[in-house]
Amino acid sequence: MRRIQDVLSQLYAENYIPKDDMIWLLENLDEESREQIFDYARKTRDKYYGNKVFMRGLIEFSNICSKNCIYCGIRAANKNVDRYRLTKDEILACCKEGYELGYRTFVLQSGEDKWYTTSKVADLISAIKELFPGVAVTLSLGERSYQEYKLWHEAGADRYLLRHETASRSLYEKLHPDGDFDNRRQCLYNLKEIGFQIGAGFMVGLPGQTYYDLVEDLYFLKELNPHMIGIGPFIPASGTPLGKEKSGKVEDVLIMLALTRLMVPKALLPATTAMGTLDPKGREKALMAGANVVMPNLSPIATKRKYQLYDNKICTGDESAHCRVCIEKRINSTGMEVDMGRGDSLIH
Ligand code: SAM
Ligand code: SF4
Ligand code: FES
Repeated sequence: MRRIQDVLSQLYAENYIPKDDMIWLLENLDEESREQIFDYARKTRDKYYGNKVFMRGLIEFSNICSKNCIYCGIRAANKNVDRYRLTKDEILACCKEGYELGYRTFVLQSGEDKWYTTSKVADLISAIKELFPGVAVTLSLGERSYQEYKLWHEAGADRYLLRHETASRSLYEKLHPDGDFDNRRQCLYNLKEIGFQIGAGFMVGLPGQTYYDLVEDLYFLKELNPHMIGIGPFIPASGTPLGKEKSGKVEDVLIMLALTRLMVPKALLPATTAMGTLDPKGREKALMAGANVVMPNLSPIATKRKYQLYDNKICTGDESAHCRVCIEKRINSTGMEVDMGRGDSLIH
């Protein structure tokens, strides 16, 4: 298959191929070409970031959400969720534990919970920045106004994760009964303009998703050029409209990760918890496909199991200190090393 080799060499050398070639590539992948893609993806990552894996401590501070994304286990309409909201002091205690474990990035994530007003979040950001010198603060609280994002940036927040979820408008609209495709994208552009390092991303294996939809994700990301890109499998969550659907396939996520590494070579790419949930070696496989970030959970042990975005989520019974050691062993098993620094993206 001469043509596959040519297309792959071009993608590796130029970090771009035309969309038609990308579709053709996905339709014609064989074992040899898959291995070649992973090899190119690793080489590309190593060229920019070396063999380091950046660590982020994730604090899931509220599972209260006003939205109803049909895939998500903590959607508002799911009555089987034991809802919680951590106080400022509880969040700071998680940061303290994380700081002592060596983390220098905290990711504050929640449902769309308006109880956390602009000023409460700004106050929290300032407190974290003051108490834990040198840390980067990442927010992942969903869609808010330009003005709110701006105030949070002024309060010291460095990064914002807001997956675009899927670049297909029709699929997006099916999955988000109360969502707005254009607003979600606009939020990403707003965040970038304000000066945040932004994280977009998508799920693989969503019911009804095709190769064409996934190719749209790659070209949207190429254009957006975000600092980080979170890619994980869709996993069904019981109590949701998609609770009985099939999960995405690990192999498909790996290919999308590697192609993303080749298309957006300087992006930071997490080996997601969802990958570790589907396959005991899922995160290691993601690192071998070009990923270079992990986000171990720093939430209090009592709330970890309540942030069930999907069924059988790993690490929900494990202490943060245990995960810190466990993940390092896993990273080392791939030949990579932990980097506890802030881990800023090379994209400016
Ligand atoms: N509420 C914020 C938002 O939606 O951006 C942040 C938290 S939300 C739970 C974080 C991410 O979880 C979403 O962007 C989505 O991609 C992912 N997620 C939710 N349900 C999932 C599922 N069933 N399988 C895999 N990922 C899921
Ligand atoms: Fe809420 Fe985010 Fe889940 Fe959507 S994905 S229901 S916004 S927590
Ligand atoms: Fe949490 Fe392994 S990373 S138990």
